[in-house]
Amino acid sequence: MDKMWAGRFEKALDKQADDFNSSIHFDKKMYKQDIRGSLEHALMLSSCGIISQGEYEKIAEGLTSILDDLNNGALAFDENAEDIHMFVEAELTKRIGDAGKRLHTARSRNDQVALDLRLYMRDEAGKIILMLKELISALSEQAEKNQKSIMPGYTHLQRAQPITFAHHLLAYCMMLMRDVTRLEDAIKRMNYSPLGSCALAGTTYPTNRDMVAKALSFDGICLNSIDGVSDRDYCVELEGAFSLIMMHLSRLSEEIILWSSWEFKFIELDDSYTTGSSIMPQKKNPDMAELVRGKTGRVYGDLMATLTMLKGIPLAYNKDMQEDKEAIFDATETVQKCIEVFIPMIRTMKALPENMYNAAKRGFINATDLADYLTKKGLPFRSAYKIVGTIVGECIKKNITLDEMSLEEYKAHSDIFDSDLYNEISLESCVAKRISRGSTGYESVGEQLKYVAEFLK
Ligand code: ARG
Repeated sequence: MDKMWAGRFEKALDKQADDFNSSIHFDKKMYKQDIRGSLEHALMLSSCGIISQGEYEKIAEGLTSILDDLNNGALAFDENAEDIHMFVEAELTKRIGDAGKRLHTARSRNDQVALDLRLYMRDEAGKIILMLKELISALSEQAEKNQKSIMPGYTHLQRAQPITFAHHLLAYCMMLMRDVTRLEDAIKRMNYSPLGSCALAGTTYPTNRDMVAKALSFDGICLNSIDGVSDRDYCVELEGAFSLIMMHLSRLSEEIILWSSWEFKFIELDDSYTTGSSIMPQKKNPDMAELVRGKTGRVYGDLMATLTMLKGIPLAYNKDMQEDKEAIFDATETVQKCIEVFIPMIRTMKALPENMYNAAKRGFINATDLADYLTKKGLPFRSAYKIVGTIVGECIKKNITLDEMSLEEYKAHSDIFDSDLYNEISLESCVAKRISRGSTGYESVGEQLKYVAEFLK
């Protein structure tokens, strides 16, 4: 196929160089956005008297028929085209003749691609927001059901203090809610139309950029045409937000993997989200969670690739920037696929509160409460802390838990101890006594559940 820019050249582009240069095999993803942008651009050109009404009508008809044919498979992408923009324009001219050649007036591929990518990413990020909300809802449903499920809370992966499974899951709800607002913020910042920036310096035609921006639901235009065609900071920002989503999913994945092990057995994943082994008949592997954890690295990689691609290029457009798309498409798809599989995996996951409770009984996770008991009876916290430390040491030697130690033995450490201590250190009361806002206490968890529900409304 003759290049659109062939006029200036004496020789055709080398075949290998042509393939290397071409981006249609990935930017064809944006064909809907490309056509939508072109339709609005053409309408603006005609309303500003830059092309005639008749020409606009032909263009609109042609573009719509191309869109339909691509949608229903009647038209295939020409993989020899340089990119999606060239492909659509060439196809248009093939269909409607000379009017098609007027579409690119007062426009360059530089602002066109910048527009398409913003439109595309606005849609995809919007989808991710909806998916995240569904995941938050799945997590909070599990939390709702597990408000009384007591488990060990950990620090350093050492049993630390009793918490409820609901409290633990709600922590992830909070993280994912921030991920939602992070995406909303990024969309707000990127929602300005670069179209009309042209190659870099603007145009001599009496265009109306605001009209196109409004029609495409942007909040305004990129006010500096060089900036409009040059920056991909919105890609970096989205990839940053995607990376944080993946980081959160990866941590939860790690916990799901641990919790499903025989060592923990806090949960049982549904058969439909686990796999077996080709040799070990007993195995039930949490592959989905492992894959999500593994794919996190890809998304970080996409972020790094885009940042690195951008760091050394002078203004305005450089071909390096064509590399933005594969990175952000990969990050987008990866995040979407991960959330998609996560939602039903969480929904169908079965909590095993009895095992959680048994784990909570060991590990002296009520030791802080025992120290608090002494403190509330007048002992300074540090002294109480020391006494309880010694008691824990004694329990370890005797291989008993704190509630298995007799009052007599307690009294040997301090005569402040009384029989009411046993109630104080029961796991249920350790949780119930947590009255600070945000804590694992029942009322606080109720407040958190309400907060999440309010967010999802
Ligand atoms: N395929 C190109 C890209 O993705 C479109 C812009 C080309 N502009 C240019 N001046 N060569 O970046």
